Amino acid sequence: MSASNVSGKPRLGVNIDHVATVRNARGSSYPDPVRAARFAERAGADGITAHLREDRRHISDADIEKLVSELSKPLNLEMAATEEMQSIALRFKPHAVCIVPERREERTTESGLDATRHEEHLKAIIGPIAEQGSRVSLFINSDIRQVEAAGRVGASVVEFHTGSYCERFFENRLNDCENELNRIREAAAFAASLGLEVHAGHGLTFETVTPIAEIPQIAELNIGHFLIGEAIFLGLEQAIRIMKKLMAEARKI
Ligand code: PXP
Repeated sequence: MSASNVSGKPRLGVNIDHVATVRNARGSSYPDPVRAARFAERAGADGITAHLREDRRHISDADIEKLVSELSKPLNLEMAATEEMQSIALRFKPHAVCIVPERREERTTESGLDATRHEEHLKAIIGPIAEQGSRVSLFINSDIRQVEAAGRVGASVVEFHTGSYCERFFENRLNDCENELNRIREAAAFAASLGLEVHAGHGLTFETVTPIAEIPQIAELNIGHFLIGEAIFLGLEQAIRIMKKLMAEARKI
């Protein structure tokens, strides 16, 4: 299957970070993100995503250890480009690693990585992780220069940050929203033309997922905060089933 013409429906990676956020709010042992991952697998998640932040505000090292040993679906470890995180990735050998920018004062990953500014550093972090067999992606904005840099530093995947698109949608700025969607569409086509696999995520909901899932080059979406919130009302499995159905319908499958 050519990377520039991904046929079939996009995969769903379920991000379980915010199950750990709720657990850590009380310093208790529950709710357990690994248990959530098992529910997600049962509901049809194609993979599980977890972000081990430098300040360990949600997912812990012990969670990653358990996920690696207990999951039946692939684990996508999101991490900052630091030597500490590189050694954790080399120790646990997850199926995939997604390099994200991290600032301690941010509430969430607010923007994509500036790969053009840190090429040598990224190469040094990515090289050994890719060599051990983990698929490496860079979380970037839908910007052609960032896509080119991702190719140069040795990533095989780019994940486009959909946060601006979602914000504009919910602020009802529909022209801006369409402009941002066009930027993502163009960047996805360009990335695929370079042979990169294309993913997307951040802030996606039942209302915003369809135009993103429709983009033909997109092979995977990573969605967390909305699904974990919706689990309060629908249950996690049902929330995931609806999201998967919307993604499949977007590809008319
Ligand atoms: N993809 C990446 C690289 C992320 O950092 C995040 C947020 O942790 C997501 C996807 C999922 O975003 P959300 O939790 O808003 O669905």
